[in-house]
Amino acid sequence: MANLSVWKNETEAPSFPSLNGEIEVDVVIVGGGITGITAAYLLSISGKSVAVLEARKVAGSSTGFSTGNLYATIGGEGLHKVAQKHGDQKLTEIVQSRAAAVDFIEQIIATNQIQCDFKRVPWSLFTVDGESSSFVQKEREAAQKAGLQVMSEVTYSQAVKEGFAVMNQAQFDPYKYVVGLASKIQSDNCRIYENTVALKMEEGEVCVVETEHGKVTASQIVMATHTPKGIYMVHTSLGPYREYAVAARLNNTELQPGIYWEMQETEHYSVRTCDSSEGKLIMVLGEMHKVGQKEENLECYEKLEQFLRKRFDVGPVVYKWSAQQYKPADTVPFIGISSGQSKTYIATGFAADGLTYGTLAAMIISDQILGRQNKWSKTYEASRLTPLASAKDFVKENVNVAYELVKDWLTNDADKFSEVKSFEGKVMEIDGSKHAVHRDGDGNLHVVSAVCPHMGCIVHWNTAEQSWDCPCHGSRFSKEGEVLEGPAIHPLKKVTT
Ligand code: FES
Repeated sequence: MANLSVWKNETEAPSFPSLNGEIEVDVVIVGGGITGITAAYLLSISGKSVAVLEARKVAGSSTGFSTGNLYATIGGEGLHKVAQKHGDQKLTEIVQSRAAAVDFIEQIIATNQIQCDFKRVPWSLFTVDGESSSFVQKEREAAQKAGLQVMSEVTYSQAVKEGFAVMNQAQFDPYKYVVGLASKIQSDNCRIYENTVALKMEEGEVCVVETEHGKVTASQIVMATHTPKGIYMVHTSLGPYREYAVAARLNNTELQPGIYWEMQETEHYSVRTCDSSEGKLIMVLGEMHKVGQKEENLECYEKLEQFLRKRFDVGPVVYKWSAQQYKPADTVPFIGISSGQSKTYIATGFAADGLTYGTLAAMIISDQILGRQNKWSKTYEASRLTPLASAKDFVKENVNVAYELVKDWLTNDADKFSEVKSFEGKVMEIDGSKHAVHRDGDGNLHVVSAVCPHMGCIVHWNTAEQSWDCPCHGSRFSKEGEVLEGPAIHPLKKVTT
């Protein structure tokens, strides 16, 4: 089964042209996911001329592979960790700003009449076996401290040992929403280009973004690419992770629409239902690991399926996919002017909470560009330095990067092409250079350099997605070496065999 999300399979993708030639606009936005398209909407309705450059298809990357869940709380280490690191004031700002972003999505849908199955639902966090009771209790206290109305009752397929719910959160189809909004805003003043890879971005008196067949000059650049393209300070404060999802037909189990987060000792499972052409589906997300650091990643799908079968009466798995996220070392995303720059805006570090944070980032950055006050600008300041709050995690992420960099230059996974079986990939040393060798289903070998063009780490084979993934800052490449996502701009170098 291909890596295909339920959302992307259910909706026909609209088509936008590629950039051919030179154009001049007020703002150039790199990236056509929820952040880029929402920013384009906000800037263009305020009179700015905008160009969006999407490397592949609008909403075709992280947005189209997300859960479609919208909530004021956060995942990962949770709300209580934000309070511990930054204090109660920051915690409240984060929750209020995220709630405002969810409200804003609802408003955009109503104003633009976008059919994307938006509905208000409860969000709940709980444990069935009591393993993570103390985490759940801490989150309940933090949610209350942040001003959320907390309910004790959680309805799930099993009895819940410890848990709470927050009403009036939301779900939608994120792909329908973003492609719907993009189709509405496309105009002479808001030009959207697909299959247009930004190859060089420079800010100076004017900002210039070069692509293979064109060039955009603008007053500002918005980097809405999940993690900024190129080399940025912020990469040292982000940990790239992959997470997996499976969706199966739901048989006789009654489960009210909602966002269900089941905590286990070492895993966090996010469960929701959705309607599809295949009938009622139930999906679960989880089994997170650092990019490029799990050899047997097919087992992630198997474990998720086992989880679903244990909790629900389900039919066959209909979809499975995985998606990337970037965790900020100090638990707070980076939104706004990038450190050391004055006309380049970044939006990154959303962890698993990207639909809401992406919308919020678009609200903040568009206000900054339009010269308007935004009460949350400071909360997420991209150029901030938080040595105390992020020190431990910063060191942890970067020791890991340094380890990956050195370890892979010293090891040699295999030394003969014949050792590479169909659908496998191995890194081999040939004439002192590291090569990434893959054999496809027809027995053909694909050989590219194993050296990540971003900052020189060695890529690892990803069996589940048949891609080369870089463990350092999360760049991913196709078996032919083309950039799929992450900060790398250029492909893995071709090698002739
Ligand atoms: Fe930075 Fe590969 S993503 S070195």
